[in-house]
Amino acid sequence: LFASIEMAPRDPILGLTEQFNADPNPNKVNLGVGVYYDDNGKLPLLACVAAAEKQMVEAPKARGYLPIDGIAQYDKAVQGLVFGAESEAVKSGRVATVQAVGGTGGLKIGADFLKRLSPSAKVLISDPSWENHRALFTNAGFAVEAYPYYDAERRGVDVDGMLAALKAAPAGTVVVLHACCHNPTGYDITPAQWDKVVAVVKGNNLVAFLDMAYQGFGQGIAEDGAVIQQFLAAGIDFFVSTSFSKSFSLYGERVGALSVVCESAEEASRVLSQLKIVIRTNYSNPPTHGAQVVATVLTTPELRRMWEEELSGMRARIKLMRTALVEKLAAAGVKGDLSYITRQQGMFSYSGLNKDQMVRLRNEFGVYGIDSGRICVAALNSRNIDAVVSAIAKVA
Ligand code: LMR
Repeated sequence: LFASIEMAPRDPILGLTEQFNADPNPNKVNLGVGVYYDDNGKLPLLACVAAAEKQMVEAPKARGYLPIDGIAQYDKAVQGLVFGAESEAVKSGRVATVQAVGGTGGLKIGADFLKRLSPSAKVLISDPSWENHRALFTNAGFAVEAYPYYDAERRGVDVDGMLAALKAAPAGTVVVLHACCHNPTGYDITPAQWDKVVAVVKGNNLVAFLDMAYQGFGQGIAEDGAVIQQFLAAGIDFFVSTSFSKSFSLYGERVGALSVVCESAEEASRVLSQLKIVIRTNYSNPPTHGAQVVATVLTTPELRRMWEEELSGMRARIKLMRTALVEKLAAAGVKGDLSYITRQQGMFSYSGLNKDQMVRLRNEFGVYGIDSGRICVAALNSRNIDAVVSAIAKVA
């Protein structure tokens, strides 16, 4: 049966972690996957998460099947966080939200639903984009193309190229947009530039699919989510996938959501019914633990305060690492204007290093980054940064 099965390529991000784990080098550093580590190089267990779990252990509950669309309190909390509990869209019930298996699960539910709704639509992702966007939408049956995004020469975003590509896209094209902390480049567009993108999406009847996996890692929770308000204000239907992997350090719990903003509550209930079919025919219904933790934290004022503080601490530490990286690279003799590193937002820095340099970093120095040149600044710390800088200086 499997005689002709070919070996599939390793996943460009998670496959690198496999390679990292197998590397016996005691000084190895994993800057590949987008995971936040504290200054001791440890994956944090947030105090708000531990407190919520303590409450849950003290009042243990049996684990029945969840509803297909997940924990109602969780879905409501997601809506509050993403759109604002007082927003007209949420209050009028025209947002359909389902719990998903991570942000990736939210994207996949949305992709499968869209494929049924508009089978011949094209999908546009940014160039470059998160490695899994292309694979996920391709596997959902879409033809995937890219709109210009990264401007290597100016170290920023090619906004004009992006807008021109969106203007040229036929009505119904699904446009995948990074709500904040663009993955992999770290370059975000300004609110004024977002206004232009929203206007083209609206004017051209495109379908916006916002991927929001890093809310709170750029400027702040509200600031990073501001683009959602711009889309709401435009009065159009759109999709948002949410992830709590990073913002709650709950990677392995796979806690995410998909929200679909519709025209009316009645429309949202029909959309929800279809999302539920997608979920039921994929994995039936979602798991309980992670979503219960997130719902408890988001809806308990004291825990929510703790979470916001802890998230802000993670954000501040990443910014510190960015500044340190700029200073240390310059001190190590790396030439040129390195300020782009502090202009980038979120966990990643698109370093500008090419594939050969990234392979050298890995093979000669045990510093693992993605072949595209992406490194995870959130995995740098005061103990490993000097080794990383000296390795980069040797290959740059
Ligand atoms: C990343 O880009 O490294 C993260 O989003 C983790 C993943 O699933 O790829």
